[in-house]
Amino acid sequence: MITYVYTSAGIAPWQIEGFFEGWPNPPTPETHLRILAQSAETVLAIDDETDAVVGFINAVSDGVLAAYIPLLEVLPKYRGRGIGCELVERMLTRLEGLYMIDLACDEDLQPFYERIGMRRAIGMQIRRYKHQSGRASGS
Ligand SMILES: CC(C)(COP(=O)(O)OP(=O)(O)OC[C@H]1O[C@@H](n2cnc3c(N)ncnc32)[C@H](O)[C@@H]1OP(=O)(O)O)[C@@H](O)C(=O)NCCC(=O)NCCS
Repeated sequence: MITYVYTSAGIAPWQIEGFFEGWPNPPTPETHLRILAQSAETVLAIDDETDAVVGFINAVSDGVLAAYIPLLEVLPKYRGRGIGCELVERMLTRLEGLYMIDLACDEDLQPFYERIGMRRAIGMQIRRYKHQSGRASGS
């Protein structure tokens, strides 16, 4: 069974391996936990049988008007069972009361987010690939 939790507190690095598929220089599990601990909201999907995190979503926010969802991922073995959808829906509920909720995604994923009630938009971005694995702790 999959359990959904709203904090990364108590999660060990071994429980959160295998994410950032396709990233040449991904954050380590330790850095991943740091990202989640410093996010405004986090939802984790945990496989009760293995205690492994099999999906996650996070949001950064000012807590008043706006939130941005930088990351959503489900481990390949667990895809296609509704976990991704559930994570987004639970996150939108956590962000209830905020005016703006934004995320950026590839065009082929837009139908996935439309089904959950989001609308297509145009955005801008910068990617600093030398920092893809995350800013050093304390800098
Ligand atoms: C996108 C992702 C989170 C979806 O997770 P999931 O648990 O498989 O999602 P669900 O099972 O809730 O799928 C819901 C629907 O979205 C569709 N979908 C999932 N990934 C898709 C993709 N990349 N492109 C188009 N449709 C997709 C599924 O086909 C499914 O439709 P169906 O029910 O008609 O079969 C997962 O594929 C993933 O982790 N991808 C890699 C990371 C990524 O792209 N993250 C999003 C960053 S913006």
